[in-house]
Amino acid sequence: MEQKLAQLKTLLGEAADLYQIEALLGWDQQVNMPPGSAESRGQQMATLGALAHDKGTAPEIGKLLEELLPWAESLDHDGEEYRLVTVSAKDYDKATRVPSSFVAEASPVIAMAHQAWAKARAESDFSIFQPHLEKVLDLKKRYIAFFPPADHPYDTLLDDFEPGMKTADVKTIFDTLRPQQVELIKAIAAQPQVDDSFMHLDYDEQKQWEFGVKVATAFGYDWNRGRQDKSTHPFTTSFGMDDVRITTRVYKNQFATALFGTMHETGHALYEQGIGHAWARTPLAASTSLAVHESQSRMWENLVGRALPFWEHFYPELQATFPEQLGKVSLENFYKGINKVQPSLIRVEADEATYNLHIMLRLELEIALIEGSLAVKDLPEAWNAKFKDYLGLTPPNDAKGVLQDIHWSGGMVGYFSTYALGNLISAQLWEKFKTINPEIDAQMRQGDFSNLLSWLRIKIHQHGRKYEPQELVQRVTGSKIDPVPYVRYLKDKYSAIYGL
Ligand code: CO
Repeated sequence: MEQKLAQLKTLLGEAADLYQIEALLGWDQQVNMPPGSAESRGQQMATLGALAHDKGTAPEIGKLLEELLPWAESLDHDGEEYRLVTVSAKDYDKATRVPSSFVAEASPVIAMAHQAWAKARAESDFSIFQPHLEKVLDLKKRYIAFFPPADHPYDTLLDDFEPGMKTADVKTIFDTLRPQQVELIKAIAAQPQVDDSFMHLDYDEQKQWEFGVKVATAFGYDWNRGRQDKSTHPFTTSFGMDDVRITTRVYKNQFATALFGTMHETGHALYEQGIGHAWARTPLAASTSLAVHESQSRMWENLVGRALPFWEHFYPELQATFPEQLGKVSLENFYKGINKVQPSLIRVEADEATYNLHIMLRLELEIALIEGSLAVKDLPEAWNAKFKDYLGLTPPNDAKGVLQDIHWSGGMVGYFSTYALGNLISAQLWEKFKTINPEIDAQMRQGDFSNLLSWLRIKIHQHGRKYEPQELVQRVTGSKIDPVPYVRYLKDKYSAIYGL
């Protein structure tokens, strides 16, 4: 059996290599590629993607897995072999259930939906996107039918981003969270607003970049196994744990974008760089889920990067870098400014206190669309009604409302809740970490994040996909994903800032 396992690893390793090369082409596409090459690059990536898929779903692999599964069952379920075989078997099952004829049929529909969405958003006209979204949802319903019936049809979609997570679980979590966040936002709105005007002054772009590099380095990002470049949309990508790259964007008069964006992507990258080398070129060499990934980015961006002790260390240096802009802004006012709460229309610009509400409304609408209780043509109206209800605002047009996100046009249905779950997990992990390392505030005041990083390495990063997200969170914190620590964190933080 050991020999069969070695054979399996070889085959999966070759598939992993092809996927990583495809990812490298994708990185180049967004960072370096001249625009004229878009079409040929698209073809190259499609070819490589198909090769990787064929490699990963080869009948040989299926046969090996069939032979290895009963053997793996007899082994320690916490051991490397058991996890490798069972995770690979689940991947294989998922990948082979969906016929390649369906994949081939879906890809032009998605490509056209994406184009239609871009046009619809530019013209703020939902009717341009509507027939395409109907087709996308039809594909999603057919996709669901390739899988065994779940408790809820949406479970199948959710599982692609958040393995093992059920629609009912997410609903329960959000039902606890929603009223408390709404109440908190109302309490904040009743208080005098903080001043963040310093954030919209002009800041030298090169100096912004250099400051971001300093922070990423202090967090523990390994430049020997990574690099940072500029791109239109910031992202993190990995070609194995020894080459994990981040990108950022820098705006002269939006100082928060590069700074907190760099912290966010660094958080993602630290996770990828921390995956155990034993998992290299196997399906376990990846994050366990998008929510756990986001918990890492959010922790470094928010729990660390928007915390007062962090700025007690870094603010004098930031002030010295930008004396004209910040020389007269006190640390306290700076801290308040970077933590300003204000309900706004656009999810990606939302603050910590309002962000999850943007997610909840999307989740509820997605579930209704999949259940069929909401028709696509009624989506903008439903969006606006929920937005008013949760955030107290009415989008002036569809571009700033239902058309703002790219996800649905790319066929990504089931993705959104992972952002909010990531926020919840970040606070849950942080609470646990503080019980083990109560000196974290003092350490941050010294610019020392080594204890935090090594704890995350041991508890989260090294495992890759060994544990499913709920299992991982349970192992580390003693309970499954729980919204209470996040609510506690928000209340503590904003009570101090807004004098609640
Ligand atoms: Co992220």
